[in-house]
Amino acid sequence: MTVSSDSMLPCQSLCVSVIGAGNVGRTLAQRIAEKDLANVVLLDIVEGLPQGIALDLMAAQGIESHNSKVIGTNNYEETAGSDVVVITAGRARTPGISRDDLMAINAKIVVNAAQQAIKYSPDAIFIIITNPLDVMTYLAWKATGLPPQRVMGMAGVLDSSRLQTFIAMELGISTANVTALVLGGHGDLMLPLPRYCTVNGVPIPELLDQATIERLVERTRNGGAEVVKLLQTGGAYYAPASSACLMVETILRDQSRLLPTAAYLRGEYGLDDIYLGVPCLLGCRGVTKILEVQLTEQERESLHISANSVRKNVKLALESVGMS
Ligand code: NAD
Ligand code: LAC
Repeated sequence: MTVSSDSMLPCQSLCVSVIGAGNVGRTLAQRIAEKDLANVVLLDIVEGLPQGIALDLMAAQGIESHNSKVIGTNNYEETAGSDVVVITAGRARTPGISRDDLMAINAKIVVNAAQQAIKYSPDAIFIIITNPLDVMTYLAWKATGLPPQRVMGMAGVLDSSRLQTFIAMELGISTANVTALVLGGHGDLMLPLPRYCTVNGVPIPELLDQATIERLVERTRNGGAEVVKLLQTGGAYYAPASSACLMVETILRDQSRLLPTAAYLRGEYGLDDIYLGVPCLLGCRGVTKILEVQLTEQERESLHISANSVRKNVKLALESVGMS
């Protein structure tokens, strides 16, 4: 589908390309535009889909009072010069399908999307969303050839936000008073850390009994599956889009926020050559620092178990796309 010249984005504006105009991608495009963070290029393989969504989002521009331009395209040329590229393209979960089950299908999609996007935006920061997240982030990093700090995955912000909400709901208080931290892979082996969850600085183990904490931790681990089971037709996308938008904002505005992020480890936490969720400072250059929080022996062992599962799947995924 050709794109008329009047749909080209104005020069000198911040631009975020979102690859995949499905539930997560279109919601993220909406969040970015309505927060006036950047212009958005929404790309999908389905002809007309991103164009229709972009047109619909632009029709709300006056009401929502923002100046972000949103264009839809099926052509990577229109993503040229992006500051941030977010990859959401791929199959989503449905009941009975785990994140890992999506691997073979999504590996090819993510590698192709990364290779296409980097051709037109060599200076971009990449945020990967497609599942299985940690594996797809590793593949995208390999496919772009970028320094690892410029490729990261979104999952920890989502998982931590879920735990934050469940704690607030349990205590009957505002989520604004709660901080939560979830590390590790974005899957059943994720590592919620109640010791680092607080209510205005008060560690939650002082506010909730162990059985309740374990129940909230388990609900967080199953947070994605719980939504899939209720929706039946796909996975969560509002909280994922909000989580990705927070990372985009932190990068575009160079805010140095400490956010749990799937980042490339080079010895941190005793792990090497793997993408995994850890606390990171994010800014205009991507992952600017990885924070090593103190872990108990048991927590460290759990993190390594999570890492081993990711590493096994990375090997399978690399083989499935003929990469080493
Ligand atoms: P969706 O099915 O609604 O959208 C996927 C979109 O990708 C579709 O519009 C499809 O046409 C498009 N697509 C497929 N192949 C493509 C290609 N080669 N190039 C461009 N676009 C292509 O799915 P969704 O709910 O938006 O989820 C997208 C992905 O994100 C899934 O893998 C899902 O599991 C994952 N996800 C991850 C997190 C996380 O925390 N990391 C959270 C939610 C969803
Ligand atoms: C979730 C899945 C889709 O956590 O990754 O919602």
